[in-house]
Amino acid sequence: MPLVTPTGFKPVPLPAGLLSGSEADTRDTAILDLAPDADIEGVRNELDQSNLIRIRFDSFADGRGFSLAKRLRNAGYKGHLRAVGHIISDQFRYALDCGFDDVEITDDLAARQPEADWLANQPVARSYRDKLRGESPVPKPAAQAAEDVYQSQANVFEQRVTHVEHFTDGLFSFRLTRPASFRFRSGEFAMIGLPNAARPVFRAYSLASPAWDDELEFYSIKVPGGPLTQHLQHVSVGDTVLLKKKATGTLVLDALQPGRRLFLFSTGTGIAPFASLIRDPETYDKFDQVILTQTCRTSAESRYGAKLIAAAAGDPIVGDDVSAGRLRVVTSLTREDHPLQGRITNLIGNDDLFRSLGMPALNPDTDRAMVCGSVNMLTDMRALLEQSGFEEGSNARPNTYVVERAFVD
Ligand code: A2P
Repeated sequence: MPLVTPTGFKPVPLPAGLLSGSEADTRDTAILDLAPDADIEGVRNELDQSNLIRIRFDSFADGRGFSLAKRLRNAGYKGHLRAVGHIISDQFRYALDCGFDDVEITDDLAARQPEADWLANQPVARSYRDKLRGESPVPKPAAQAAEDVYQSQANVFEQRVTHVEHFTDGLFSFRLTRPASFRFRSGEFAMIGLPNAARPVFRAYSLASPAWDDELEFYSIKVPGGPLTQHLQHVSVGDTVLLKKKATGTLVLDALQPGRRLFLFSTGTGIAPFASLIRDPETYDKFDQVILTQTCRTSAESRYGAKLIAAAAGDPIVGDDVSAGRLRVVTSLTREDHPLQGRITNLIGNDDLFRSLGMPALNPDTDRAMVCGSVNMLTDMRALLEQSGFEEGSNARPNTYVVERAFVD
């Protein structure tokens, strides 16, 4: 019965784990065994006394144990956290990112997936737990020529660009190293700037990567003459980008009441926060069905979304949910021929959206909605949702829909 640790297989120390069903000595180790759907509030008193929590995984496709681990770490649990049961090597990296210290697997699985398979799936930089503790710092980026004008500020991280991709003359995405202590909820935004002035210009950018990712991804418009994007569009791998330390936003699962279907309505770069949410297993824990709509002017402008969705099906964390049809994606174009043509507001109004999905129309009793796009799109969507009986929610007062402007400058 091996234990998979970040340094390799080890025998399970006494007391033996759940899979062995042993009656081993538990005097020195206060163990708390939790089912994947355990309620933290119900066991809060026991958390302080436990130095080992074992979370049971009954099926490879059940991601609830990962969310539970994250919630325990976020609630301040500092003891040993072990995943027990149906975890596969592809999920090991994510398990560590969620805060697990090790994984207890069966002999049978260890024979099918040897040690090398598991060690190939480790976090590049650090585990989620290290991030929470602020251990194993990310190497500081090399100083840039602009450093003589820019003075480091206490509330700003200096991060390195790891990837840049241009989609059209007006759209690009980039990835940054993630600071060890930078935490956010999927769907939130952060403030981004460049070290090109003593007082850099900062603009809000939705985090397009999920909260568990080792890097940070952003999707941006290029505004001719825009104070930030006229420079930001020229960054390349190795450059330094500034990131303010606090992330915030309303497009978070916490701002919505529980429901069955989650509609994510986006136009243009408004897809960015949803790129994060559709890759977060918590989204599928909370909703049976996730429907992402993206409306762009042309197919070239929808390419970031198309790439994202193609990759989601093969994602080791949410790929099973996506392949099982729990994520539906609808693309409509407004200035090019396309099977589904028109603004999302029109497609909802004339029922074309629901006909193309083969689903019933919006219903505030079962559906929740998030909206991200231009100011005009938000105004129109807000009116449409309110007419249909939806009410706007917030972090403090969750309700049936939330909106956020897709930030441009
Ligand atoms: P349209 O081409 O008809 O203007 P933008 O880049 O201007 O934010 O637009 C992105 C997409 O959002 C475009 O397809 C655009 O359609 C659409 N759009 C613009 N305004 C609205 C609105 N008020 N309601 C719904 N969709 C909109």
